Amino acid sequence: MTAATTDLFTFGEEALLDLTATRTSPFFAYDLGVARERYRQLRAALPERVRLAYAVKSNPGLPLLETFSAEGAWFDCASAGEVSTVLAAGGTGSGMVVAGPAKSERDLQAALFAGARIQVDGIEDVARLHTLHTGERPLRVNVRVNPASGVSEGAAIISGGGPSAFGVDEEVVEEFVREATRFDPVQICGLQVFSASNELDAGRLLANHRTTLRIGQRLQELLGRELDLIDLGGGLGVRYAVEQPTLDVRALGAGLGRVLEENPWFTGELLLEPGRWLSAPTGVYCARVVRTKVSRGERFVMLEGGINHLLRPLMTGQSFPTLALRPGVGVLDGGTATTTLAGPLCTSLDRLGHGDLPVDLQPGDVVVFGRAGAYAFTQAMTHFLSHPAPEQVWMG
Ligand SMILES: Cc1ncc(COP(=O)(O)O)c(C=O)c1O
Repeated sequence: MTAATTDLFTFGEEALLDLTATRTSPFFAYDLGVARERYRQLRAALPERVRLAYAVKSNPGLPLLETFSAEGAWFDCASAGEVSTVLAAGGTGSGMVVAGPAKSERDLQAALFAGARIQVDGIEDVARLHTLHTGERPLRVNVRVNPASGVSEGAAIISGGGPSAFGVDEEVVEEFVREATRFDPVQICGLQVFSASNELDAGRLLANHRTTLRIGQRLQELLGRELDLIDLGGGLGVRYAVEQPTLDVRALGAGLGRVLEENPWFTGELLLEPGRWLSAPTGVYCARVVRTKVSRGERFVMLEGGINHLLRPLMTGQSFPTLALRPGVGVLDGGTATTTLAGPLCTSLDRLGHGDLPVDLQPGDVVVFGRAGAYAFTQAMTHFLSHPAPEQVWMG
């Protein structure tokens, strides 16, 4: 394996052979040392006035949260469940933001009880918080704004400019501010904008962040109150193939420094809330080959795990990087062919994307999916067809 391949698959060949020899397929394996190193690398690249919150939804595994918490990370939560896992991992409400387009009363109560900064998605959230908040002291919240333009991932998980279930449309912010003033002591003191997903170009992210600051300046003028927190969202991308570029986080950090200088009206803190960039490189998913076949010219490899363990390729049309391993032997690097990866579920939906895999793949060989530390284990349809859940192995 080359260094670039090891980067995609978290572990080197020996460690992968050890894992497949000692664990029951299918399983996820994570390296917490990689998580620590990713956090430190990003933290070191950012100006001090930029806070760093880990987006829990990308991988809410307790050992991972404990690792980030020990590094001093903030957390971005999107449910009462995530709030309680973060608190169990040693996180605190003062280092937590809570978002969601349809927060239940339980979600709001959990966020209030923790003392987290809540991102309101509309005037309804403000009104409900006004009812739930006890006491006279101000309850400082952020408003999520759906910008009129932004960058997006190809498969459009998040996009800017179109209709959205999230936030207040930029066009109606003035009306929102007028209504929100009726709900004192709930006070809009910050902004959240999320407008990119898996972006590998620091320049495009910075262009988005400049738009966010422009929206922030207008919001501050409308409110007549200084914003103390502008949340720039996540969207920092990772490569899923060796030929893709790597996001230049030092350029992103330097650019954010310039963005702060260009906006002297803003004296608060910026917040980045990446999920994938921090967690994707920490883990792999490994599943044994049950059988192979060619059907009408298409080559299939059927694995012990499917969309009950790994759903992202089906949802986005984007495959995880794959390699094939023969237990006790090593990585297979013979001639390859384009292969459709299918799982054990009795539905033609059960596809794990495509890979260039060795033509001599046999039952018992293992397919390793790289970058499976994010949007994998908890994003899958675990209960569909009642197969066992995969084990999660935490190393480092
Ligand atoms: C509000 C919010 N913050 C952060 C993230 C993390 O995004 P990413 O993993 O692309 O960095 C998401 C992802 O959906 C999100 O909705």
